[in-house]
Amino acid sequence: MKICDGHTSDIAGKRSRRARFLRRAILIRLVWCFVALAIAAALLVFGTRAMAQSAAPSAKAGETPSGNAENGKKIYAKYGCYECHGREAQGGGISGPRLAPDPLPFSVVLIYVRHPAGDMPPYTDKVVSDKDMTDIYAFLESRPQPPPVNTIPILKH
Ligand code: HEC
Repeated sequence: MKICDGHTSDIAGKRSRRARFLRRAILIRLVWCFVALAIAAALLVFGTRAMAQSAAPSAKAGETPSGNAENGKKIYAKYGCYECHGREAQGGGISGPRLAPDPLPFSVVLIYVRHPAGDMPPYTDKVVSDKDMTDIYAFLESRPQPPPVNTIPILKH
């Protein structure tokens, strides 16, 4: 009787262990399913966002937006562009090159400000929005041409 009892409980034990194993296997598979879904969703969201972002500047390529030069002048000073590029965007200062007059096309300026290649710090659209950039660009465009060299007396000598 004792042996018999022991035998059945042994089988029951094996069964419940097997059931636990199966349940765990299903659980692990479910977790993986969720992880895979989450990754797919994240890729989808970031992918479309990245595509939208990279499409935005190219949609504007060659096109010059009409910004507010007055406001642009303020933002240009506020975000410290002048510290490196000079008050009039004439360049010099500490390090930045001349930006105006005759600025680079808007799409190039926008891409450069977001992803500078050298010493310039990057400005994301959280700091300087695309709208701010159109105003800064209007300010750059509004910089007057310098007077012709032969009208500057000291340069005639
Ligand atoms: C800390 C100094 C610094 C600040 C601040 C700065 N720049 Fe620059 N910028 C540079 C330097 C240096 C370069 C030359 C390339 C390089 O090293 O990244 C440059 C290059 C550029 C260029 C490319 C010019 C060219 O002819 O290739 C643009 C456009 C530009 N800056 C715009 C801006 C604007 C707009 C701001 C403000 C939102 C700004 N920069 C703020 C230092 C600065």
